[in-house]
Amino acid sequence: MVFPSAPPCTQPITWQGFLLTASLLNFWNPPTTAQVMIEAQPHVVSEGKDVLLLVHNLPQNLIGYSWYRGKIMDITHYMTAFLIDGHITIFGPAHTGRETIYPNASLLIEKVTQNDAGPYTLQVITQGDRNNGETGHFTLHLETPKPSITSSNSKPSKADTVTLTCEPEIKDANYLWWINGESPPSSSRLQLSNDNRTLILFSVTEKDAGHYECEVKNPVSASRSDPVTLKVLHGPDFPRISPSKTVYHQGRNLRLSCFADSNPPAEYHWIVNGMRRLKGKEVHVPRITTKNSGLYGCFVRNSATGKRNLVFKEIKVVDASECSLGFYDLIQ
Ligand SMILES: *[C@@H]1O[C@H](CO)[C@@H](O)[C@H](O)[C@H]1NC(C)=O
Ligand SMILES: *[C@@H]1O[C@H](CO)[C@@H](O)[C@H](O)[C@H]1NC(C)=O
Repeated sequence: MVFPSAPPCTQPITWQGFLLTASLLNFWNPPTTAQVMIEAQPHVVSEGKDVLLLVHNLPQNLIGYSWYRGKIMDITHYMTAFLIDGHITIFGPAHTGRETIYPNASLLIEKVTQNDAGPYTLQVITQGDRNNGETGHFTLHLETPKPSITSSNSKPSKADTVTLTCEPEIKDANYLWWINGESPPSSSRLQLSNDNRTLILFSVTEKDAGHYECEVKNPVSASRSDPVTLKVLHGPDFPRISPSKTVYHQGRNLRLSCFADSNPPAEYHWIVNGMRRLKGKEVHVPRITTKNSGLYGCFVRNSATGKRNLVFKEIKVVDASECSLGFYDLIQ
């Protein structure tokens, strides 16, 4: 039978309409014979685009079809139905206005949103015995958007707790984390939420500093965030003065350098024989004399952590006659 001139008839859902379809449906069959196949076209659809849920392998002697949003076939999940005899389209409470059912049972969903992701059920009603009919199931997944990481604290101090969350929250998606390109190590200080969307770092140390990325994945697509850099404020550690040499010949140049591990980098000051002398990592005294002997102190400070540290080195300058034997050079 063909209805070439019959205009498609649409009407809003009424209880009668639902009962009419319900009576035509007889009972719904448990999906034991899953012959009806549903496929999304395009296979991967992104938010805002249209998707067609194509129905294949329809049985013979069709009366009509009903689409439900979700897995439950009740009035609240009832979206739309099509009755072949008379080309009647019926809309249910779950119809948003963006769904179109075609005479071949396929369903067009326009301008999909994240809320459209999830399961759909198609009920196919056939003529004949009460139990005739079939159901088809399909889960719509959207292309995953590029996620981003929100951090409770991107510059934590040592021993702070940091919470990283992968945004946005997507239904039926899996979340994965990468720390400096690798899966998170198993550590009692590192905890993932049940859905893996939140990573909590307890009592951070400078070892936790690095690049953090998250990935959101569903059966049709996967996308990774830009890395977020975690900087752990620490230090300054105990400073070291180099070179280790302590005895210098008169007339030579003295050049001392100080370093203390710190984040952010420490501020340096040199204190020579009790007097604050120079700002900076290095101290340079050209053509030293025995008067330059004494205590060289390196003072370091990190204003972000509020910590400071100090180390001294005793420098002895010897004149040429003392060192002619190379004695001091030998004892070093
Ligand atoms: C069903 O109809 C729609 C709209 O005319 C069409 O795009 C689609 O290809 C048809 N589906 C099948 C399985 O033929
Ligand atoms: C969370 O991640 C672990 C491995 O890191 C995985 O075994 C588990 O299945 C994931 N859970 C969820 C809900 O994705």
